[in-house]
Amino acid sequence: MRSDRTGRSGADGKGDGLRIIHLSDIHVWRFAFNPIRLLNKRAVGMFSLLAGRARRFRLERLHDVVERVIGLAPDHVLITGDLTTTALADEFREARSALADLLLDSARVTVIPGNHDRYTSGSVRYRSFEEWFGVFAPPGPYPWLRWLDETTAILGLDATRSHLSARGYLPPEQLARARQLATGLAGLPRRLIVACHYPVAAPGPYALELGPKRLENAAVVADWLATLGKHLYCCGHVHAAWSFVPEGLPDQLCLNAGAPLLRDRTGLRPPGFLQIELAGDDVTAIHHAWTGEEWATRHLARAPGFFHSSISSATSVSSEL
Ligand SMILES: [Fe+2]
Ligand SMILES: [Fe+2]
Repeated sequence: MRSDRTGRSGADGKGDGLRIIHLSDIHVWRFAFNPIRLLNKRAVGMFSLLAGRARRFRLERLHDVVERVIGLAPDHVLITGDLTTTALADEFREARSALADLLLDSARVTVIPGNHDRYTSGSVRYRSFEEWFGVFAPPGPYPWLRWLDETTAILGLDATRSHLSARGYLPPEQLARARQLATGLAGLPRRLIVACHYPVAAPGPYALELGPKRLENAAVVADWLATLGKHLYCCGHVHAAWSFVPEGLPDQLCLNAGAPLLRDRTGLRPPGFLQIELAGDDVTAIHHAWTGEEWATRHLARAPGFFHSSISSATSVSSEL
């Protein structure tokens, strides 16, 4: 990754350009045959694996994904959860090892958990995610604000829990602290990026899929998000890359990175990740997708002036699914 911390030049020539690579839902998987381990929720996960998940995520592609990301020389890498499938130590170890070349400087990588990283009550109790990836986030409880430069920060949320369903829930105390962050000494940055595994809403084609595994208190979270002003919302969970402005959240540009190892049988969800370019108030999101033979890129969003408070998202954002 880039070695200087001054930021690349934006379109206006100022040094506030920032290239962020957004990855999500890598879903490293490992079979666990210890029968004691199968006496809990992991049994459900292992059954799911045996029923086909292992065939849906191509681990052999991960090295190429890492190489592609490194080749883009990002200023920061953001991973929005589901690094594993059943929160096994072997899965965390494999994920950490396979991503090692991206994780060399913890100051330039932010990783938050997904529901599969908290798959069992044991993984929550023993803080397995924190053991392997906790170094890539500020210490202390969620939410937190992590500054990337003088004008840009990530606000990290954790709505995951060990639960039989895949639904998330942002605890009220986390929401209360998030509200306080906005009024704290540092306040909120001009370029705010909210990172949460769960989207609060999905664009039309994916709304049905999100329904059964949604954020249970999405309406309350959305009410709070609506008070933040302009922000990017980086998420995953639904394995499809998208960019859209949710109804009722006109100041949000919601970006889903999709799943980089997904075996896409439909041709509708090409596996990949997002390159997010910040230049002054401008935002551009580019999807890097593996076609099965080569990498292809397409602009998911162009939003000139997005972070400028007086420019409405409706007019500044042009996005595709
Ligand atoms: Fe996932
Ligand atoms: Fe998920």
